[in-house]
Amino acid sequence: MLGPRHFEAHAETYERARPPYPAQLWARLAELGLLVPGVRVLELGAGTGQATGPMVDAGARVLAVEPGAELAARLRRRFPQVEVRVGTAEDVPLPAAAFEVAVAATSVHWFDLDVVLPKVHRALVPGGSFAVWRNVFGDPSVPLTPFRQRVVQIKPPGREPPRPGPGELDTTAWVEQLTRSGHFSLSHVEQFPWAIELSTEQVRDLFTTFSNWDPAEVAEAAGAVEELGGRVLEHYLTPLIVLQRADGL
Ligand SMILES: C[S@@+](CC[C@H](N)C(=O)[O-])C[C@H]1O[C@@H](n2cnc3c(N)ncnc32)[C@H](O)[C@@H]1O
Repeated sequence: MLGPRHFEAHAETYERARPPYPAQLWARLAELGLLVPGVRVLELGAGTGQATGPMVDAGARVLAVEPGAELAARLRRRFPQVEVRVGTAEDVPLPAAAFEVAVAATSVHWFDLDVVLPKVHRALVPGGSFAVWRNVFGDPSVPLTPFRQRVVQIKPPGREPPRPGPGELDTTAWVEQLTRSGHFSLSHVEQFPWAIELSTEQVRDLFTTFSNWDPAEVAEAAGAVEELGGRVLEHYLTPLIVLQRADGL
């Protein structure tokens, strides 16, 4: 199943398998003054809360929007203090001038930006920020590991069904998409490299959650880990774009 409904269909696996975001990202958001105790955060496409948890831990008051009912139910169970609204970023009603920060963590590529950017602009207070980031599972600047060589064989570059929007590491194109309506300007862009060791089971679970991998491909990837000794070190990237709400619109 391709597309955003994939996550809802694999909600249980998603909650268990998606790795957290790197500590450097949270440190930077705190340094930029975006993640401070009491900050009101609008989170769009929250899933089961991989980004929600650290924001709650930092003292943020989060309103989370998530279209998948099962994902939203899991989010509510994990974080009872978070207000969860089931709906898309495009359709869910939002209060005006109610948040200092809006966040889209590995979700902005699913949004209709013509609808969502003006809506986020309206929901933020003057001077508010929209922080957009995602986990990219594979760092092209790191020489291919034996496992990554197998991944390329299973899914040769260019043969993957595309996700919507520019490439996941094409930050320049994303900044253009996110600023061209004039609702936001660029305030900060950065990329965080990090690594994580994964077992065969963790690779099976994680790759199952990828909306562009089918079950046979996932089984091949898990088989590759098994052949390589049952554990692999994966190098990932987390690009971050912070946008400033434009005044006077
Ligand atoms: C890759 S997951 C990321 C979830 C979570 N933010 C995280 O960091 O793990 C993408 C999420 O976006 C949600 N989503 C898809 N289309 C959406 C839309 N139009 N509005 C809001 N959320 C959407 C999906 O249901 C899914 O939970």
